[in-house]
Amino acid sequence: MSFTKVCTLDDVWEGEMEPFTVNGHEIVLVCAEGGEISAFQGVCPHQDIALSEGTFDGKKLICRAHLWQFDAGTGKGINPDDCALAVYPIRIDGEDILVETEGVEPLFAHS
Ligand code: FES
Repeated sequence: MSFTKVCTLDDVWEGEMEPFTVNGHEIVLVCAEGGEISAFQGVCPHQDIALSEGTFDGKKLICRAHLWQFDAGTGKGINPDDCALAVYPIRIDGEDILVETEGVEPLFAHS
């Protein structure tokens, strides 16, 4: 496993999401209510729309295109519930947020 530094804790505040490209992977970092940080695929599993163009309410990411919703803690689909975002392992090292991209591929769902 080799983790890549993406940003620092100052770049993603609680209730925010930020898109990044890491080793050619489009990812979105989210800091959920309570401060838990997660890294997910940056594109919607539905039709390749950037999730960062949608909204994040601290608990759910909502795609702007057709309003699919994803749990910000697990990446699992809420509506519809038969889809999910790929989850990238993250590590916090001091102030730095690092992400492992090796072996993780975006998931795509039914349309
Ligand atoms: S492209 Fe995201 S919900 Fe359709």
